[in-house]
Amino acid sequence: MTRVLGIETSCDETAASVVERGADGQPRILSSVVLSQIEEHAAFGGVVPEIAARAHVEALDGVIEAALMEAGVTLDEVDAIAATAGPGLIGGLIVGVTMAKAIAAAKNKPFLPINHLEGHALTARLTDHVDFPFLLLLVSGGHTQILHVAGLGKYERWGTTIDDALGEAFDKTAKLLSLPYPGGPNVEKAAAQGDPKRFAFPRPMKGEARLDFSFSGLKTAVRRAATELAPLSQQDIADICASFQKAVTETLSDRVARSLERFQTLHPEIAEPHLVVAGGVAANQAIRTELDRLCREHGFTLIAPPMKLCGDNAAMIAWVAVEQLDAGLAEPDSMAFAPRPRW
Ligand code: KG4
Ligand code: ZN
Repeated sequence: MTRVLGIETSCDETAASVVERGADGQPRILSSVVLSQIEEHAAFGGVVPEIAARAHVEALDGVIEAALMEAGVTLDEVDAIAATAGPGLIGGLIVGVTMAKAIAAAKNKPFLPINHLEGHALTARLTDHVDFPFLLLLVSGGHTQILHVAGLGKYERWGTTIDDALGEAFDKTAKLLSLPYPGGPNVEKAAAQGDPKRFAFPRPMKGEARLDFSFSGLKTAVRRAATELAPLSQQDIADICASFQKAVTETLSDRVARSLERFQTLHPEIAEPHLVVAGGVAANQAIRTELDRLCREHGFTLIAPPMKLCGDNAAMIAWVAVEQLDAGLAEPDSMAFAPRPRW
């Protein structure tokens, strides 16, 4: 049995969780506490790093305590302490890593520095027991990547964004339209009332052989439409959101279809290949529906972790640590490991 306390403080969520792989080999989330700072940042229309760092300092103690209590375990009953060590906002990373190291030192347990993206990448193994290798579409506020996940610690990047991340494109579109922060869910909500055909926004990179993404041209097109129409009616806003979401979904679809084909060429032996979608944008229903359609068409199974594990959380961090410990792959000399804002 391997049981880990995980801590996540890389952006605007203060989170702690206890996760274990039981004696039966099954992963279990004993607790997952996520305290969002959305209210603190809403007035600024985005995450303010200084405010985030201070809020993590204030909240982390209580969040860890709540996670232990909910799990019904004490610090003596966990095997290791893990924390997100990057990539992310340096202030928050320092808060989480310092706390984890302090607990580890006090309790004489190992500390594991975890890569936030690896957390998103392996969530599907925690929730859906997906076997290696699989194809991963990671779409969050800071990242848009297609990864070939060959095994634990074996990640091959097939495509990435050359400018904005997809979540960022949603957030910027929301800001342009004066929709409240966080943008993604609000754009999706507005889009549901809109006409996706009203605006012919570009489909950047569509049809290109390399698997990269680009979203800044789309953002410019949205800005132009919004400026030309100002002042915007509710319907204008809904139509822009719907047209934007349609453009994004089609672009994504084109890139993913190519990736599925590439994966199949590489792994003809896998009868039931998996596409895993992770990161905050994976909460978007229109995107999920399109990915599901694509997967069916190509003979893939789409795995999308439950909504609350798509966004930032600490269960995914604790889980990577469990996998590393069980595989004997934990970072040696981890107490000297410094947070890496870019990792
Ligand atoms: O993974 P995440 O919680 O944080 C990191 O960036 O690591 O992702 C947050 C991003 C934000 O940009 C947010 O606007 C976007 O995910 N997002 C969505 C939706 N829910 C969250 N984007 C589109 N549709 C949604 N329903
Ligand atoms: Zn994230």
